[in-house]
Amino acid sequence: MNIVLTTIFVVAAIMSVSTASRVLELSDRFLEIKKEGHWLLMFYAPWCAHCKRLEPVWAHVAQSLYHTNIRVGKVDCTKYTTVANTLAISGYPTIMFLKGDEKDFVFRGDRTKDEIVHFALRVHGPPVQQITRHESLDNLKSMKRIFFVYVGEFEGPLWEHFYDVAERFQPYSYFYAAAHDLTKKHLAIDVLPAVFVYKEESHYLYDGDHDPKLLNNSLTEWVNAERFATFVKVTKGNFHQYLQTNKYLVLAVVEENKLEEIPEHHAIFRDTIKSVIMNHRDKFHRWFQFGWVATPDLANSIAMSDIPTPYLIVVNSSTNHHHIPDDEPHTLSEDAIHDFLHSILNDTAPVYGGNSLPVKIYRTYFNARTSLGEMWRGNPVLTTVLFGLPMGFLSLICYSIFCSDIMDADEEEEVPTGEEYLHEKKE
Ligand SMILES: *[C@@H]1O[C@H](CO)[C@@H](O)[C@H](O)[C@H]1NC(C)=O
Ligand SMILES: *[C@@H]1O[C@H](CO)[C@@H](O)[C@H](O)[C@H]1NC(C)=O
Ligand SMILES: *[C@@H]1O[C@H](CO)[C@@H](O)[C@H](O)[C@H]1NC(C)=O
Repeated sequence: MNIVLTTIFVVAAIMSVSTASRVLELSDRFLEIKKEGHWLLMFYAPWCAHCKRLEPVWAHVAQSLYHTNIRVGKVDCTKYTTVANTLAISGYPTIMFLKGDEKDFVFRGDRTKDEIVHFALRVHGPPVQQITRHESLDNLKSMKRIFFVYVGEFEGPLWEHFYDVAERFQPYSYFYAAAHDLTKKHLAIDVLPAVFVYKEESHYLYDGDHDPKLLNNSLTEWVNAERFATFVKVTKGNFHQYLQTNKYLVLAVVEENKLEEIPEHHAIFRDTIKSVIMNHRDKFHRWFQFGWVATPDLANSIAMSDIPTPYLIVVNSSTNHHHIPDDEPHTLSEDAIHDFLHSILNDTAPVYGGNSLPVKIYRTYFNARTSLGEMWRGNPVLTTVLFGLPMGFLSLICYSIFCSDIMDADEEEEVPTGEEYLHEKKE
């Protein structure tokens, strides 16, 4: 009891709660209480525009997690440099989950309330949670999440590798384990142990290698490919996650207005693309991840031209090459899209772009031109002045190289590489 009171006293003394929100403003003295619980923190700088945009989202995140024992806070890294240095913060905003003495997790995803809240809930618990009662699996299903389940005795190679994969993918997916009895009424499993994923009201069994030597790779690949919904919304923030699938990304490019509405013929086009994967999952799922984007920016940068909308573009995630159909995308029938995807698989579709040096240079030029166009629309006078000065033009090019190459960089300074993404940084 005393310890609890002291803790409350210390916590109250060190933090001041901003009246408008549930977000705790933390200082350097946070390091003294770091071990006292689970913290979801945003590290920011007052001058950073992405941080400002995150501010209202963060207040909602804090509200959503208010009834859990996860504390939500923020640290101004320009004022409290000791915290920032101790935690090796390298870009703003950085979102981290700190679990006392355990390893820390860095959030890498779309900075929306739902994504951040799910991230916190996932890393808050152990990597694999046990399903113990009959109702639990029903409960989990009713939450409309994608989750992985191990079924069988908690021993042997499959169990060990499942746990290992769960530890690595904990920030991105939910992992559970259950005894066979509890899953019987949900799906038939002939051989135990087994692993399945539940998504979109269906179960899919892991059908890869069970040879202990190959298990790590094949289970990792399977989880990495299955952890996404069948038809996803792709944004600049999560694009890199989808490139990790090593599949082709099939993107329906449509244009949303400020109210997140899209014109009817765009919606029809998007539905056509979606129905291709919904109706032919067996044929295409292994090779293609389907999705849509709400603005042409990302696709423009991939195609290096100002594409019309609606549009269809297929990106090779390992080489960054892309494919586009010969016909006007909105005239394509489901069958025509079908043939187009086939021609990509049998290497007969024309290939564009890629990652070679000339293409990278051209993409940089294209992005610079786009940024310039945006600057011009935003402030013609300033742009003229800057453009007139060689230094201004140079700095614009530098800006484009470092900041706006979508194929290479994230929305902000920090660029997650494949390595980092699979092995979370340890303290
Ligand atoms: C599985 O492979 C990953 C790299 O892909 C590695 O980090 C991990 O330690 C391996 N796990 C086991 C149990 O060998
Ligand atoms: C991408 O291109 C490479 C080289 O042409 C090819 O081997 C690979 O199968 C393609 N597809 C994906 C999804 O990486
Ligand atoms: C490749 O696929 C397309 C579309 O299905 C088909 O028309 C073409 O004949 C195929 N080419 C080869 C060489 O298999």
